[in-house]
Amino acid sequence: MARALFAGLAAIAMVACFTTPSADERPNYNEDVYSILATKCLRCHGSGAAMPILLDTYSAARAAASRIPHAIDSGEMPPWGVDVSGECGEWLTPEMLTEQERVTLHGWIDLGAPEGRLGQRRVGLV
Ligand code: HEC
Repeated sequence: MARALFAGLAAIAMVACFTTPSADERPNYNEDVYSILATKCLRCHGSGAAMPILLDTYSAARAAASRIPHAIDSGEMPPWGVDVSGECGEWLTPEMLTEQERVTLHGWIDLGAPEGRLGQRRVGLV
């Protein structure tokens, strides 16, 4: 119950801060999304983790894409640490997403989760 209330408040705080991507932003997995996942998600959703979903390969991330919006908008992912006492909430852990990162993830999923070119990946290579 308390957790549901917390998630609800977090969602309201985040909707209040939500901005839409500009028309020319067309994020893809390799160029835009992978670097976000690598810094904010792969500690728990990388290969080797015993997790229900993995995000470290394009095929795995694409398969999980439809579940990401609810997870990040509800404040459930990355887990814990959102202080919703302020007007827009405070990110309390280094893994919390910035608004721009959330916009990029939403934009990617809205576009049908395109892969992009592997050579353009900015953070590490799997
Ligand atoms: C500290 C570890 C950790 C981090 C960091 C993390 N997750 Fe998770 N994630 C989990 C755990 C644990 C579960 C399973 C929770 C459950 O099933 O209740 C999960 C479940 C999920 C799910 C499935 C939710 C569902 O039931 O449909 C999605 C989608 C998800 N995470 C996305 C993300 C994204 C995107 C990020 C980065 C922005 C992220 N996670 C960062 C631990 C983490």
